[in-house]
Amino acid sequence: TVVGAGNVGATIAQRMADKGYADVVLIDIVPGLPQGKALDMLEAGAVTGSDALVLGTNDYADTAGSDIVVITAGLPRKPGMSRDDLLYKNMEIITNVTQQVVKFSPHCILIVVTNPLDAMAQRCFEVSKFPKHRVIGMAGILDTARFRTFIARELNVSVHSVAAYVLGGHGDSMVPMVAYTNVAGQPITNRMTEEQITKIVNRTREGGEEIVGLLQTGSAFYAPSAAATQMIEAILFDRREILPCSTYLEGEYGISGIFAGVPTALGSKGVEEVVEIRLAEPELSALQRSAESVKILVEKMRATSKI
Ligand code: APR
Repeated sequence: TVVGAGNVGATIAQRMADKGYADVVLIDIVPGLPQGKALDMLEAGAVTGSDALVLGTNDYADTAGSDIVVITAGLPRKPGMSRDDLLYKNMEIITNVTQQVVKFSPHCILIVVTNPLDAMAQRCFEVSKFPKHRVIGMAGILDTARFRTFIARELNVSVHSVAAYVLGGHGDSMVPMVAYTNVAGQPITNRMTEEQITKIVNRTREGGEEIVGLLQTGSAFYAPSAAATQMIEAILFDRREILPCSTYLEGEYGISGIFAGVPTALGSKGVEEVVEIRLAEPELSALQRSAESVKILVEKMRATSKI
């Protein structure tokens, strides 16, 4: 199931439907919107060769028994808005959506995409009362994709040759792991000047704003939907692929009781393992500071609304 048939949700549904290895239910509060988009996707299958069933609905009963539920419902950013400005509005939406989803799919794995990401993932975790391995936030793959793309373009090499991780919260405090980023096994610090690296790190941190500024009427959705699809595939095919995802931490990296982006092995159970790479300073402190900024949002949410 994909909750939210807007830009991100519909594009995730389309990517999944095109691949053809899972049936998809697309649900939204707007009457007709998920039905229209789902029917259009179903009809595309005749051309793409996919037999995946795609159903659009406004009724959670149709989502019953889903294995994976991706939540994209919410408001996107407008120019000048930070992800945190969305906090209270999207908190209400996530609370309501999560209650409905878990009622009909009590054994699903929840992937949260709605922003502010880490805070919404935490809300979803607390409302669902699911074990921590079954609630995962999508952010790190997207931030890392932006970072890798900018490096690849700067060096004029394939993005496949750039290995990197961007960890921490999905916000201004995200932490591109420069010391752990390499091109064909070589640290980027050997290939780029400090000035070049700083420019790319800043562009990565502001990657979402850059797109909002260009679009004016919405936020990014092609790369976010590709990132969510990679998570879905890792789970469906039990890959144990190590991907940067937002997960509930209980002492890993010295962080406790909060969602933050760290390398996780994703497989059929959801988060199979939080992978603890041995971080040196300043990365470790930056990651912990980033988690602190997520904690501030979570505390703001708790102050306004108890679950
Ligand atoms: N239940 C179901 N769907 C909802 C609800 C709800 N309670 N509230 C809103 N929606 C739907 C809207 O009707 C809309 O179709 O969520 C959809 C959101 O789509 P867009 O406005 O196109 O936003 P999108 O670009 O898809 O972003 C969604 O993902 O990346 C994040 O910051 C982004 O939080 C935002 C979310």
